[in-house]
Amino acid sequence: MSSDDKKVKIGKFAEMHGVSIDTVRHYMELGLIVPEKKGAHYYFNQQCHEDLSFSMKLKSLHFTLKEIHKIFFVYRGFSGIIDQANFVYKQLLEEKQSELQQQIQVLEDSKNKVEHELSTLDELDAERAHHVFGIHMQYLSLFCCGSCQGELTLMDGNIVKNELINGELRCNACGLTYIVDEGILILKNKKESKKLKVEGLLDADMNWTEIEMRYANNIYKNMQTLSNNMDIAYSNNKVILEMGSGFGIFLRNIYDQLPDDAVYVVVDHSLDIHRLVMKGLQSKKVKKNIIFICADFLSIPLRSKSIDVLIDDYGTTNYCIYKHNEQFPLHHMDKHMKPQAKLIGSYMIIDLYAKDSIIDVSKRPLFQQQYIKEQLAALGYETEHEHISSEFTLAEENVKDDSAFKAYGFIGTRK
Ligand SMILES: C[S@@+](CC[C@H](N)C(=O)[O-])C[C@H]1O[C@@H](n2cnc3c(N)ncnc32)[C@H](O)[C@@H]1O
Repeated sequence: MSSDDKKVKIGKFAEMHGVSIDTVRHYMELGLIVPEKKGAHYYFNQQCHEDLSFSMKLKSLHFTLKEIHKIFFVYRGFSGIIDQANFVYKQLLEEKQSELQQQIQVLEDSKNKVEHELSTLDELDAERAHHVFGIHMQYLSLFCCGSCQGELTLMDGNIVKNELINGELRCNACGLTYIVDEGILILKNKKESKKLKVEGLLDADMNWTEIEMRYANNIYKNMQTLSNNMDIAYSNNKVILEMGSGFGIFLRNIYDQLPDDAVYVVVDHSLDIHRLVMKGLQSKKVKKNIIFICADFLSIPLRSKSIDVLIDDYGTTNYCIYKHNEQFPLHHMDKHMKPQAKLIGSYMIIDLYAKDSIIDVSKRPLFQQQYIKEQLAALGYETEHEHISSEFTLAEENVKDDSAFKAYGFIGTRK
């Protein structure tokens, strides 16, 4: 057999090495394999086989093409002085070895950090299982019938560590019954007014639009300013009530600072939202005194003059958007407030309405800063702090309104 018989064309050559024809062409362009050209065809001899095998082996050792070139240059340049070529190749292998060792170390460090993050999250998950929220027996005296203000009697209950987890409370005067269902106080047989889509609402892959980001940023800045001023509400056994606690954004923001002797009562008419908020608080490191009440603002089963601090973080605004009622909602809450109570409030103000605004014309006075200030003054709250945000549009789940909204933050005390 002549030496020409051993030479193969490009298709066969690529097939023999398990690579594509394009790869072979690429190695040819780089000068790593140098086939013979006869007419329109290339013929690959034994040297080409060896060069391609060696190139591929160097690639699998993580040598770059530039480095592979260098090694080829050494072997081709020192051909005949093979010891010298091996010496240089060995040096390059040792350099590669220490480079790979460094990369392994960097990856090992990253892997350890990822493992640490995962185990921190696992620890938080384990904590979540430990916190159980109920109504501490010492706070049962705060409650009375939301309808007739009669005394409530505990008829039945499952009490764990002095907290009522499940139970039944009945009004001595009118017989109205309340249940405590997994730590949440609720009127017996109360039906959820609308089915809320709460699952997945706080998912990491939630798709925020730019408008929603602007809305959330303004709401957040306003809340941050108010919560920075919350310390004035923290002295001595305060009873704090949040009307319309919603997803508990305000509560979660101040949760860690809440003193152990304070009790924070959250009221919202959505049971689903309360459950979601409770689930979130169960993962917190420390457990605070939180009481969950599922009720309408107009019939909260709390005694008169029992509240030191009222948090109205868009509770009134939400009420005014969705319900029609001539009175400013805080007047309904007033019976629960102590004479020297403090108010921490956030209200939506609208100076300019979009043509298709969701705010009915008859309700628009409720969204004027001047009107809100007058109402708060009429309730006896003297301004201690107030601020107004820049403009934004309303962007809530399924509710968009292009009117120019502003957030009005207010802190005041009755003297
Ligand atoms: C804008 S959200 C409040 C946000 C909340 N402050 C937070 O930090 O996440 C208003 C809440 O008020 C509640 N709400 C509105 N009208 C109500 C009423 N009449 N009685 C009870 N809750 C009401 C709604 O269910 C809603 O969760």
